[in-house]
Amino acid sequence: MRTADPCVLVIFGASGDLTARKLIPALYEMHRAGALPAKFQVLGVSRREKNDAAWRDELALSVQKHAKGWDAAAWSNFATCIHYFAGDAAQGEMYRALAERLGQFDAQDGTRGNRLFYLSVGPELYESIVQRIEDASLVTEGKRWCAIDRDERSWQRIIVEKPFGSDEASAASLNRTLGRVFEETEIYRIDHYLGKEVVQAMLVLRFANTIFEPVWNHQYIDHVQITATETVGVGNRTAFFDATGAIRDMIQSHLLQIFAFAAMEPPTVYGAEDIRAEKIKVVKALRATNASDIAAHAVLGQYAASEQEGAYHQLPGVSAGSTTETYAAIKLHVDNWRWAGTPFYLRTGKRMAKKRTEVVVQFKPPAANLFRGVAQSAGEAIGNRLVMEIAPDERTRLRFESKLPGTPFRIANVEMQVDFDKEFGVEPVEAYGPLLVDAMRGDQSLFKHGREVESGWAAVMPFLGSGSSDIRTLINANYAQGSWGPAAADEMMARDGRVWHNDE
Ligand code: BG6
Repeated sequence: MRTADPCVLVIFGASGDLTARKLIPALYEMHRAGALPAKFQVLGVSRREKNDAAWRDELALSVQKHAKGWDAAAWSNFATCIHYFAGDAAQGEMYRALAERLGQFDAQDGTRGNRLFYLSVGPELYESIVQRIEDASLVTEGKRWCAIDRDERSWQRIIVEKPFGSDEASAASLNRTLGRVFEETEIYRIDHYLGKEVVQAMLVLRFANTIFEPVWNHQYIDHVQITATETVGVGNRTAFFDATGAIRDMIQSHLLQIFAFAAMEPPTVYGAEDIRAEKIKVVKALRATNASDIAAHAVLGQYAASEQEGAYHQLPGVSAGSTTETYAAIKLHVDNWRWAGTPFYLRTGKRMAKKRTEVVVQFKPPAANLFRGVAQSAGEAIGNRLVMEIAPDERTRLRFESKLPGTPFRIANVEMQVDFDKEFGVEPVEAYGPLLVDAMRGDQSLFKHGREVESGWAAVMPFLGSGSSDIRTLINANYAQGSWGPAAADEMMARDGRVWHNDE
């Protein structure tokens, strides 16, 4: 494993929520874990005038709230590498001063010309910032290599947040803009779900064991459910969310990443190129749902009023008569040899019964049922079901049938489970931390390739297009806050003879 290179992390949009709530707490956790390079500086760029000390004080409060293990001495030590740069990222002149400031870091702090640009701004600014980075000649490697030391070339990489485009065409356009300035090997399209332990553990479960992979296909798996439900609503992000909706916000990004890890073919080795190649293939194999089939393949919803809070469409900032979905459940088919006939159900929702992110793999019943007529101790047979819980608990559970002790002869479904915290005695860290360190190490394994993102958009476009207008008009207040979503979503599963994995 390469260690992280010396570098400056330049955060555009430094006064935003993401920097305070996620990025800086994640970096602080990485600092405590000794995972950051010895020569490392953070430069936050934002419009408001502020000095380093004031910004550090603000961030200290946020780190106390959002990071694990507050240690004042560790913070003071880490905070010395945090700096603020007041400037408007939309103005070309700013970049000359920025280049000078970055040069000072190289001269004084040994950051060697290595830059990690982080776009934590509204997506409407992505293209112009990338262009200005280019205009100010801040990219010296890639298109135009430049030797700093005899053996050491400096690098400039860019981390791009989601949403990556708002549809297939805009994602392709953003890819083209990025590609004019940065090599694909220097573009890090981040999805914090890939920083989650159990998402990564899924690859180990599948490919470091012999017992799962032989049955991991349409012959043995009935269907797969990928769920990411939340109890929170849209908070103060109504304007963003109303223009975005749950499919773009969660399914196109996070849930398709989980899907790719669950469904991809084994890469030849554990390495960025091989993993990304397999992910591209499986996402490309997703069938584009026909416009005439949308109603059978998707249910959209908006939460209704509760005693404490109004309905989604009544929130300040939500447009009157909004048909933006706060809940979405879609059924996807994968047109390849492994998965033909085995559907993947992806669902997400705000203000749901529980915060739960999980993958449920439901296996088919045995080919012949030897125990016909033998009573099941409780209800129906569940058979084999593998549940990979990603959040809030990190746990893997496998259900199987067993004999209930005693007479008469009866069958009971039992469960084996591994709790990551009990097993390994570690608490999960903020998912952004390891991903940022990977970007400093030049490891793209857990970042999305441009072609994968475009294929992901292609798969969800039918649910956003005009074919979805029928289901969209039905969504107004169609599920109660604190519930498991619209009744129509249960009906969609019932039509397929299946049920959502809710309360267990
Ligand atoms: C973000 C979405 O990417 O992920 C939010 O924009 C969502 O709407 C969040 O709440 C969920 O992340 P997590 O890690 O809490 O599951």
